[in-house]
Amino acid sequence: MIHPSRHPHTAIVGLQWGDEGKGKLVDLLTADHDVIVRYNGGANAGHTVQVGAERYALHLIPSGILYPDKQCVIGNGVVVDPEKLIQEIDTLAGRGIRVAENLCISDRAHVVMPYHKEQDAALEEYLGAKTAAERGNLAIGTTRRGIGPAYADKIRRSTAIRMGDLLDEDYLRSRLRVTCTLRTAELEALGVRTPPLDADALADRYAALGARLRPHVADTVYALHDAVRAGRSLLFEGANASLLDIDHGTFPFVTSSNCSTLGIPAGTGIPGHAIGRVLGIMKAYSTRVGAGPFPTELDNELGQRIRERGREYGTTTGRPRRCGWLDLVAVRYSAMVCGATGIACTLFDVLSGLDEVRICTAYRLADGTVTDRFIPDAHRLESVTPVCETMPGWSEDVSDATDRQRLPAAAQAYLERIERFVGVPVDVVSVGPERTQTLVHGRRAAALAHA
Ligand code: IMP
Repeated sequence: MIHPSRHPHTAIVGLQWGDEGKGKLVDLLTADHDVIVRYNGGANAGHTVQVGAERYALHLIPSGILYPDKQCVIGNGVVVDPEKLIQEIDTLAGRGIRVAENLCISDRAHVVMPYHKEQDAALEEYLGAKTAAERGNLAIGTTRRGIGPAYADKIRRSTAIRMGDLLDEDYLRSRLRVTCTLRTAELEALGVRTPPLDADALADRYAALGARLRPHVADTVYALHDAVRAGRSLLFEGANASLLDIDHGTFPFVTSSNCSTLGIPAGTGIPGHAIGRVLGIMKAYSTRVGAGPFPTELDNELGQRIRERGREYGTTTGRPRRCGWLDLVAVRYSAMVCGATGIACTLFDVLSGLDEVRICTAYRLADGTVTDRFIPDAHRLESVTPVCETMPGWSEDVSDATDRQRLPAAAQAYLERIERFVGVPVDVVSVGPERTQTLVHGRRAAALAHA
């Protein structure tokens, strides 16, 4: 679609706080790539892909699975909940989608165990309700999918379980016996967990899950390098989004992996310089789920209107998303960190019908100074006031647009302002959920495919 021969390997990454509509872009770009690779996160992510009348919600499996001739890889940087993964495989199979050797899972990907989910929820409860009175609510608003505790075990090493461990029952059992004793004590300290975790029961259950997933488990680092040597092109599918990156996001209100493109080398074993093109995805406005600073938030009727028009409810948890004006300070920072070479602006149709639209181009700090630099620290970002430009809105419905040059003048001006401020071209504009409702380099995607 976008000159794949010049840039064989592409990354797709969210430039805001997630839910930018990456699934649709991954789905569109999949046609031009051979191998679709997840490198971070786990079942906290959710991609919705609309194909004709069918809507698919995927959490762990790359949406490339919807194409029978593509290879999908879950890289070593992902944390895998085997039960959720099997559910996803079975649901797809029930809808006629084949999941066999076309799905490969790294033997080094870490496993999300049931106690990780218990720990995630218990910690959130403790940090929320129990500390609120003394220190304010410190809960992160996680998806409670066990992501943080699973990555914590990865970093702690001695208590971690990897996908490859599920294939060796004796080894798994011996590790779980130690881990479960420690974990029971930790859960008890949080006021939950009686009776103690049963290591043998967990070993039986997870060895059975391992047996079921065995045909998919492989050394994906060699598999990916073999694919590259064979001339096949890779598409890296980022989960969550740059501003939730553990190192570069709004810490501590972030997730526990490197969701920016900087996570690709570590999470797949493919060096960063191999990635020729980075498509950064941004909504035409901003949203955020869970707690954390959000300078342009519209906690009012306008925010509610955007939420309803954009169907801004979480794919993974169903939670209503917080909505606000487009924050270009944040987007420009993410584009810089991710090395974005192009931008896809999604949900553009949602802004139709507003008298005026606003774009944040700087922050005013508590001492009155103004900066156009992002502040990747929740505590400091909390106290900024957005400095916004106001632009005329457009009343026309743009969901049938076929040509960027024929969009209402105000809509074109909005896109041009993004390009000027961020310094990266808006290569793709999405004006609705369908594959065809996409303008690529200014024209309908379907038309381009035949050009
Ligand atoms: P966790 O990843 O479940 O630990 O959640 C940490 C934070 O990241 C919470 O604010 C979540 O709402 C947010 N988060 C994690 N994954 C996504 C995503 O895919 N989209 C939007 N927010 C997410």
